[in-house]
Amino acid sequence: MFSDFPTKGSFALAEQAAYRPWRDLKISYYPITKEDIFVDIADPTQPTERERTKAMAIVQRTNFFLYRTPALSLPGREVALGLARAFGFHRLDANPMADEDGLTQVAVGEAGAKPRYIPYTDRPIQWHTDGYYNAPERQIRGFLLHCESRAVEGGENFLMDPEIAYILLRERDPALAAALSHPEAMTVPANEEESRAPCTGPVFSVDAPSGQLHMRYTARTRSISWLDDAVVRAAAQALARILDDSASPYVVRHRFAPGEGVVCNNVLHGRTGFRDAPTLGRRLVWRARSYDRIASPR
Ligand SMILES: [Fe+2]
Repeated sequence: MFSDFPTKGSFALAEQAAYRPWRDLKISYYPITKEDIFVDIADPTQPTERERTKAMAIVQRTNFFLYRTPALSLPGREVALGLARAFGFHRLDANPMADEDGLTQVAVGEAGAKPRYIPYTDRPIQWHTDGYYNAPERQIRGFLLHCESRAVEGGENFLMDPEIAYILLRERDPALAAALSHPEAMTVPANEEESRAPCTGPVFSVDAPSGQLHMRYTARTRSISWLDDAVVRAAAQALARILDDSASPYVVRHRFAPGEGVVCNNVLHGRTGFRDAPTLGRRLVWRARSYDRIASPR
């Protein structure tokens, strides 16, 4: 049944010899503090060699880094585009909400289509990876969130490396990791308004160009259907419990201040609900979604 699961490398169930050292190394990075994964970037349009080297060393370990740029020294759009370019996000996903340059302003929507979607409200967003409803040719391998301004209250983000989620699930029972690698494990139904076809695929897969683990997931229970299989259902529940563990040393929580943000290889994330003030104190986050993983080509 689970024959599409990789048979070679760290993710192969049969290859404990490749898996164990990788698992041990990944786990050895934790617990981490936020300062361990923060990079100060003086000019986000042109990060220095030293800043990029530090960021890449963190990404090697956790698949994401947090950054701090001088607040309000540049428009949020320029910061987000500068960092996207500097970290190899060359092909941005032009989703229906994106502007022409591929960036999306994530804020409480005032008009148009945005308020129908939870990201453009002040409501909480559950654990997910970006683009879990995208067709394979539009798979999101990286994204960036840049905070231009924050809400008066709430709006904290939480993040977890999907490789850790995979490890924790596999440690519980390898059959659970295998079940969520089934090519029909998770289905997102069609969205007629966006003329989007239904999308069925695995939660865990190996990204062909990079050989890295890719995760496609949402903790939403509405508008999602799981393969009608007892092990797949048990695996989805076990994963949800892993992510809901409020004492987990693997979850990084941060309420981004203006000028701060995250660059990642599409890690698991979500946010708490928030309250905007009528004028100053409205949350505005710039988002870039990329078909490319993080790279630092210079
Ligand atoms: Fe997201």
